[in-house]
Amino acid sequence: MEGGSWPQTTGIGHTRWATHGEPSDLNAHPHTSTDGKIAVVHNGIIENYIPLKEKLIAQGHRFVSDTDTEVIAHLVSSNYKGDILEAVKETVKELQGSYSVAVLCQDEPDKLIAIRKNSPLIIGLGEGENFIASDIPAILKHTRTIYLLDNDEVAVLTKDDVKVYDELGKEVEKQSLKIDWDPGDAEKGGYDHFMLKEIHEQPRAIQDTLTGRITEDGEIKLDDIKLDKETLDNFDHIQIVACGTAYNAGMLGKQYIEKYARIPVEMEAASEYRYKNPIVSDKTLLIVLSQSGETADTLAAIDIAKKQGARVLAITNVVGSSIAREADDILYTNAGPEIAVASTKAYVTQVACMLLIALYMGELKGNVTKEEADEVLAALKESSDLIQRALDDADKIKDFAYEHFKNEDMYLIGRGEDYVTAMEGSLKIKEISYVHSESFPAGELKHGPIALIEDGTVVLAVATQENTFEKLLSNIKEVKARGAHVLAITSDDHPEIMTEVDQAFLIPKTNQVVAPIPAVVYLQLFAYYLAVARGCDVDKPKNLAKSVTVE
Ligand code: F6R
Repeated sequence: MEGGSWPQTTGIGHTRWATHGEPSDLNAHPHTSTDGKIAVVHNGIIENYIPLKEKLIAQGHRFVSDTDTEVIAHLVSSNYKGDILEAVKETVKELQGSYSVAVLCQDEPDKLIAIRKNSPLIIGLGEGENFIASDIPAILKHTRTIYLLDNDEVAVLTKDDVKVYDELGKEVEKQSLKIDWDPGDAEKGGYDHFMLKEIHEQPRAIQDTLTGRITEDGEIKLDDIKLDKETLDNFDHIQIVACGTAYNAGMLGKQYIEKYARIPVEMEAASEYRYKNPIVSDKTLLIVLSQSGETADTLAAIDIAKKQGARVLAITNVVGSSIAREADDILYTNAGPEIAVASTKAYVTQVACMLLIALYMGELKGNVTKEEADEVLAALKESSDLIQRALDDADKIKDFAYEHFKNEDMYLIGRGEDYVTAMEGSLKIKEISYVHSESFPAGELKHGPIALIEDGTVVLAVATQENTFEKLLSNIKEVKARGAHVLAITSDDHPEIMTEVDQAFLIPKTNQVVAPIPAVVYLQLFAYYLAVARGCDVDKPKNLAKSVTVE
């Protein structure tokens, strides 16, 4: 700092996800009160900020930004009577919406006040230093001991102390949590991007997902799930709800559960589910998937379903996240921190979890024989090696991506499980390379999409499922005949595909339900290299955030 030393050792900052007003310096956090004495950063949305702002302006407060957040700074200031904790507590009474907020006050410079409602906030406990953050990786370099702040709690941090109070102002004894993630997990470790690193971490991530969950004699042990046969028999249907990539993993989950447990499953995007008045009762099992465990739409879906009597089973990656805390049963993916916005290792581990749950239910229901389960579990254990084989093909995938990076449209086709892999590949391509891509069930081509195929169109075909291979081969021939450049992913039972397409990858023989795990890795790598070739910011794609904690 120019002009001498800077004595302050307490600070706040926030990478803003624009919800109100354009991304600009004026709208950037922290926001301050008119006299500059109160500074705040905020994650979430203050729903009633307009009436609050009008009231504050009438009282003489001057606003400089378009944000909802700024009302918090002014409100705290108007409630401040010499005790910042009391001022924040008063302020909370007037706020509606979701928020995690950090507040600094110039008159009490050693204190940092944190509040939380339906938006993630953790407290990191250090030696002579303490931290708050919205996500664990942010503080991993400094400490692995954390408190999870609950809704409506208020924390007061100084460098040597953390005190937490409940809604009624009573001090709360928080239990600290030890995070066993390696601090190195939150660094790139020699890779150009977190996404590439996380793609390469998938063999280990899958092993970590399975560790301790399959006994020596092949029994599935899901300790965090307390579903017994009687409870399972009580459900007449299952609903799976998630967003984005987690939705795609849920789509595979639906297929697995229907195949093995023979329970009807409805799949719904959380953003749709929450507004459609879903049919839910105490005979509903709601399964939610969420890497972050903080996705606002998914949390809202849980709330709706719980109020109508559903039991909630969550598959998530983040211990102690809001979704984990709301759920009745939890299965952690154990993928380690995922930093890149584009989800990769979370997806394959979610798929592995869904397969474990489906087999577990199938066995409880008596629909799956021990031999059948053993075969799938053995294949699941070997899926790490299959992913590694896909990673070993990275250069060939890169070449195909670099040859076609100027194409502005790409199409992905598959049937059954392969269609879901195509959906996930298409999402990856869109979000990081900004190429327009669409996925179709291959059998639907003739009902319209084939009209889009012309000379040079890129088609990525996923054909790992034995029962539909021949059908998919016909679809490949149809698009080739119209000039498409085709990359195919199939099993090594079908080397004949090599002469039909421009590039083919053959997955070593595995159980068909496991094939989507290695298959998606080829598409992740393709999307990655496409984005690199196009000069995109791979880890931070435009308009996207890692945790979507707002609607
Ligand atoms: C895609 C991606 C998003 C997330 C979605 C749900 O690569 O990352 O589509 O999958 O926002 O996030 P979680 O899983 O945290 O609920």
